[in-house]
Amino acid sequence: MPFYITTAIAYVNGQPHLGHAYEEIATDVLARQHRQRGEDVFFLTGTDEHGEPVADAAHAQGLEPQELADKNAERFKALMPQLNISNNFFIRTTDTQHMHRVQEVLQRVYDNGYVHKGLYEGWYCPRCADFKVENEILDGNRCPIHEIALTRESEENYFFKLSAFQEPLERLFDEHRDFVMPARAYNEARAFLGQGLQDISLSRAKLTWGVTVPWDPSHVFYVWFDALLNYYTALSYASPDTDLTDHYWPAQFHVIGKDILKFHTIFWPAMLMAAGVEVPQRVFVHGFLMGEDGRKMSKSLGNVLDPFAVLEEFGTDALRFYLTREVVFGSDGNVGPHGLRIRYETELANEYGNLASRTVAMLRRYRDGNVPRVDTDPEIREQFDGLAEAISELFDRAETTQALDTIWQRVRRLNRYVEERQPWQLAKDDTRGAELEQTLTTLFEGVRVISVLLHPYIPQSVERLLASLGAPDTSYASARFSATGPLAGGVDLPPLEPLFPKLERPAE
Ligand code: MSP
Repeated sequence: MPFYITTAIAYVNGQPHLGHAYEEIATDVLARQHRQRGEDVFFLTGTDEHGEPVADAAHAQGLEPQELADKNAERFKALMPQLNISNNFFIRTTDTQHMHRVQEVLQRVYDNGYVHKGLYEGWYCPRCADFKVENEILDGNRCPIHEIALTRESEENYFFKLSAFQEPLERLFDEHRDFVMPARAYNEARAFLGQGLQDISLSRAKLTWGVTVPWDPSHVFYVWFDALLNYYTALSYASPDTDLTDHYWPAQFHVIGKDILKFHTIFWPAMLMAAGVEVPQRVFVHGFLMGEDGRKMSKSLGNVLDPFAVLEEFGTDALRFYLTREVVFGSDGNVGPHGLRIRYETELANEYGNLASRTVAMLRRYRDGNVPRVDTDPEIREQFDGLAEAISELFDRAETTQALDTIWQRVRRLNRYVEERQPWQLAKDDTRGAELEQTLTTLFEGVRVISVLLHPYIPQSVERLLASLGAPDTSYASARFSATGPLAGGVDLPPLEPLFPKLERPAE
């Protein structure tokens, strides 16, 4: 089954930050889990390079927009392997193939009669590249998102007849309650729609840094139209020899932050309808990351969590784990270095890493590194029954944090099992050999299954561990807890280096 999933594409006027890393990681966890289930996943990410914010930032640095875009797009691209993101393609909106396709699609919108010329006047935020409506503007004519002064802009440009899609969009929202998720975001988008749609500006005459309007080359397209189309254009040239559009379109899952809800849930489906293209299935809106003190992260408040520093000190999986565990996907969350250290030490190092190390060490000490071929403990096995299916159901609702918690309950259960069984005592008593063997096999199988399920979250550590257990299969089929001895691996186990080494500076 094709499963096409995307992130928002980042502006290249700045450098990657934690918010970007979060969205990439969260989307990657989803993509990897669907792949694990055998679905035909295509995962797209990339950079949004046109528009006023990029042109302004470039000029402020004495660069041409293309130079700044090239420089920063590289930084975003380089972030992907650092975060272990499994994207299938990285789109840049300055790719010529993208630009041609944007012209083609929007020409169709024009030919279908959804474009007219008009005078635009309104309060404009150059950082959002968006006009603001009166009721969202802050006191002193400031942007509700950036809090900077808005400028009064007036120009003659082309308009997209958004108002013509009031009813079709209402129908879309009524018939597809999961078009926007979670429910809070759906309600917000529905309320916006309820206010009545007005036509929106489609082009800019003052700007040159953008995709040229084919029917009037003195204009460029408003950056949001060019940017949103990335989800559609990428498929036409992501593969060197085939156009993937028919195979993967419509997208199953757009992952975005809550600040760009209106663009993705209202403008985007309307634009596609106007071009005669099928609309995507779901838009998932995640929350914003705030500092540990609950305030917006800023250098001056000293509450910034720098993703690059985290990667350096703790490694990729620690960042991936911390963000997906700490922040309920779909809600805002507070994150910071203190919470990260605690979760790293108590959960990754002690609860999971240590469980794996102890299991391997005991198998080596008591059974020469070979897992006994005996039945697993039915009580533990029962707690793994239907687990993979339950996780998949949670993933179908994008409840990745709840899924991780469900897995973690099994990590904790296995730790309690070690304490209950005390294999080191059993090993002292020759008459209890069978109990020892059952305990060791059950632990091995438990660690293996948990690891398979954790693979989307912490792929590197899991791959290392499973390779060392001789059971490298991470597909969903291998997430079954065997009744009769290990499903795979468990022979001549080598010693296991700690998966999450102790920190030089432990948490206070
Ligand atoms: N270029 C537009 C998106 C165009 S999509 C067709 C844009 N870029 S952005 O760089 O500002 O943001 C990229 C994504 O990162 C957005 O989904 C945004 O919500 C998300 N985040 C930016 N800061 C964030 C946090 N502090 N926390 C979580 N996500 C945030 O918008």
